Amino acid sequence: MNAPLLDLDRPETSDLQDFRRAVLSGLSRQPRAISAKYLYDARGSALFDDICELPEYYLTRTETSILRERARDIAGLAGKGVALVEFGSGSSVKSRLLLDAMPDLAVYAPIDISRQHLHEQSARLRRDYPGLPVEPVFGDYMALRSLPGIAKDAPRLGFFPGSTIGNLEPEEATAFLRNARALLGHDGALVVGADLRKDAKVLHDAYNDSAGVTAAFTLNLLARMNRELDGTFDIDGFTHDASYNAELGRIEIFFRSLREQSAMVGGRRFAFGEGERVHTEYSYKYDVHGIEALARSGGFKIGELWTDKDRLFAVAYLVADL
Ligand code: AVJ
Repeated sequence: MNAPLLDLDRPETSDLQDFRRAVLSGLSRQPRAISAKYLYDARGSALFDDICELPEYYLTRTETSILRERARDIAGLAGKGVALVEFGSGSSVKSRLLLDAMPDLAVYAPIDISRQHLHEQSARLRRDYPGLPVEPVFGDYMALRSLPGIAKDAPRLGFFPGSTIGNLEPEEATAFLRNARALLGHDGALVVGADLRKDAKVLHDAYNDSAGVTAAFTLNLLARMNRELDGTFDIDGFTHDASYNAELGRIEIFFRSLREQSAMVGGRRFAFGEGERVHTEYSYKYDVHGIEALARSGGFKIGELWTDKDRLFAVAYLVADL
């Protein structure tokens, strides 16, 4: 039943080893840092879904309303018979807005590093869109070098919503776009969602919600290390630390040690001073000029750019810059 998965040489058995390597090297360097992608185990993904519902976290509902309003424009720009390629297929709510507006898609190809997620989402989509070919692609979209079957032969529309691009440092974002440009081709386009620069208090609150869900999301990384790597972290001995760096236009997120302590993880012991931080995420905020510059650096230019009335969030339709 299922379309063949393109295995990017990261079988499940090596996921633990990969996480262990990332943790040990991330805690061994200065400044200490662990990549944001490790925040998304099953528990972390569920917590992120909860973040998307928070009153302070305006991003998801704002982007969704822009997409709802513009889905028909996007469908018109993309044309008929295109392959919709989604980079990181978290929640399918947003993709469904496009799927509903594009009944004549050649194929929907979601790319994701979670096999389980891909399977479940694909099964649901096949049920809800009976005529639509769904071709899930297992892998890290930063490293993906080619697309499978149908997607390769149709004109391609990429989809990178959620301000996921904000997690990437500028050089990484450029590298992502260049790779997307190569995958999508010279007649390809990319719909990308980017969070906009705004009042520092609004940004601060979006990453410091009063219910503590974002804190739980960050601290789940410690819990994950305890679960998967025989860690001995006292989770109460750490706190979520998120602040807006207005100069660099980014939220900077860490977990911070509340006291001097040490913990075992992956068979090694690490000491933490009081106040010592381990970086987990950046969330870059752009202005329209920044989006334009970034697009160019990746071989695209802005075809259209839509925002909400409060200019909280932007959805850009990028086309290949020939
Ligand atoms: C999924 C990267 C878009 O940066 O807003 C939300 C992740 N981290 N709250 C973001 C996140 C803490 C989110 N992105």
